Amino acid sequence: MTVPIKNKDGIARMREACAIAASVLDSLKPLVRPGITTQDLEEAGRDFIASHGARSSDYGYQIGSRRYPAHTCISVNEEVVHGIPSFRRVLRDGDIVSLDVTVTYNGYIGDNAITVPVGRITPKLEELLRVTSEALDLGISQATVGNRIGDISSAIQTFVEAHGFSVVREMVGHGVGVAMHEPPEIPNFGRKGTGDKIKPGMTLAIEPMVNVGTHRIKTLSDGWTVVTADGSPSAHFEHTVLTTDAGPEILTLPRRRSA
Ligand code: MF3
Ligand code: CO
Ligand code: CO
Repeated sequence: MTVPIKNKDGIARMREACAIAASVLDSLKPLVRPGITTQDLEEAGRDFIASHGARSSDYGYQIGSRRYPAHTCISVNEEVVHGIPSFRRVLRDGDIVSLDVTVTYNGYIGDNAITVPVGRITPKLEELLRVTSEALDLGISQATVGNRIGDISSAIQTFVEAHGFSVVREMVGHGVGVAMHEPPEIPNFGRKGTGDKIKPGMTLAIEPMVNVGTHRIKTLSDGWTVVTADGSPSAHFEHTVLTTDAGPEILTLPRRRSA
């Protein structure tokens, strides 16, 4: 499948959608503290999205015969991705929580995620968050015109494994634009010099999912929540990136408010 190239108008709309997606994450981050439920974060996210005139790309998103029932994905500890917010899930001191927000605005989609500590976390978890976030940065730095998708994958895998963690293999990053998941697939493991060639005007969601233990995952009986097979903690960071002749540009940065 050929990788969509966005024109000027598409890029302008991507910028808007991504800026909104980023500001939603930015607004949720300070709410994370012991005692809050994942449903509280969901409701704040849902309301922030609406207040920006956008809509959640997650809500009603269909895989097979299932539709995703919430406006955000909130995954705690051993949950890798697609955690369904719940008023029964109370965040505790020492937890980590991954917030993945995807919004549609003006027909275009911005996708981004962060993992944040709840209260005080162990040094091991601190390292997990740092390594996953740095792996994302390294992956992004490989998203240059003339490189290949495998250059991104390889940079992420090499860095993560050098730190003794593992990358999830069954879920991948992806192109993003008018659809949440467009070509190309962007695995978080692989070999340099392989895969599609990067051209200007691609919008790519790069998203390492990193586990403390095994790279293996399973899906819970709710049909959505993906957890590590061994119950070890997992972190997830994601940005939507535009490829340009001047290098990769991260679109999912919150827009600076003008004074
Ligand atoms: N935001 C996710 C991604 O990074 C996908 C959301 S799945 C949904 O690709 F079911 F919540 F929609
Ligand atoms: Co996402
Ligand atoms: Co994504």
